[in-house]
Amino acid sequence: MLHRAIGIFDSGVGGLTVCKEVIRQLPGENLIYLGDTARVPYGTKSAQTVERYALEAAGFLVDQGVKLLVVACNTASAVALPALRERYRLPVIGVIEPGARRAAESRNQRIGVIGTEGTIGSGRYEEAIRALLPEAEVFSTACPLFVPLAEEGWAEHEVARLTALEYLQPLISAQIDTLVLGCTHYPLLRTTLQRVMGPGVLLVDSAAETASCVAELFREQGLERPEHGGQRDFYVTDVPTRFERVGRAFLGRELSKVDQVMIG
Ligand code: DGL
Repeated sequence: MLHRAIGIFDSGVGGLTVCKEVIRQLPGENLIYLGDTARVPYGTKSAQTVERYALEAAGFLVDQGVKLLVVACNTASAVALPALRERYRLPVIGVIEPGARRAAESRNQRIGVIGTEGTIGSGRYEEAIRALLPEAEVFSTACPLFVPLAEEGWAEHEVARLTALEYLQPLISAQIDTLVLGCTHYPLLRTTLQRVMGPGVLLVDSAAETASCVAELFREQGLERPEHGGQRDFYVTDVPTRFERVGRAFLGRELSKVDQVMIG
């Protein structure tokens, strides 16, 4: 019997942080990953455009017969989930609800959220956190420079520390006890962010939380494929060279075979 894969998409390499966690938590699953590298970034584009791109990326994965769709991109999760759920009749999991769920465990109910301009502008994290913790004070800041820093391999460089200090100063002043890393690239900056925020602030990794949410859903619905050694197929919408090189650090291993496809 053919085992249907989990479909994961993102605007580019970033979603490989989610992929890495899914592989760690569900090693026996087949995965199909699509990075929309021809149209990256999503984070600076309008909600309308990101929704259209997300529907097309998801359409490609649905055509491959995936059993579940993971929207690894925070920006696409912020603006496109209702449209995706309306069009495609399969479970669709975004990264915002899982991250918000963990953040809502904050003790002092003062929570920071960082992400792209699109994610922060949408207010979706704030909404999701408040739905679980109505008294919470949520402080949100867009940190667009973190994306190129992570892709450049400068996540622990002094430039990254100074950039983080500049962006996060208002959150330090607000005395948050929890910071949501609301962008696919930010787990790479974890060490720098923890250094800048101090050891008392809990960093919530949306990628890891999302993978736990997928694992939980599989257990509940009996969708798991328990044996180990899943197949992983990677697709991109531009030439694969840069994705293969930069993606290694995001996935934590070599990208064996990446193919270019046309979508939309
Ligand atoms: N993947 C995007 C996100 O998580 C970051 C990169 C982009 O702007 O496309 O929001």
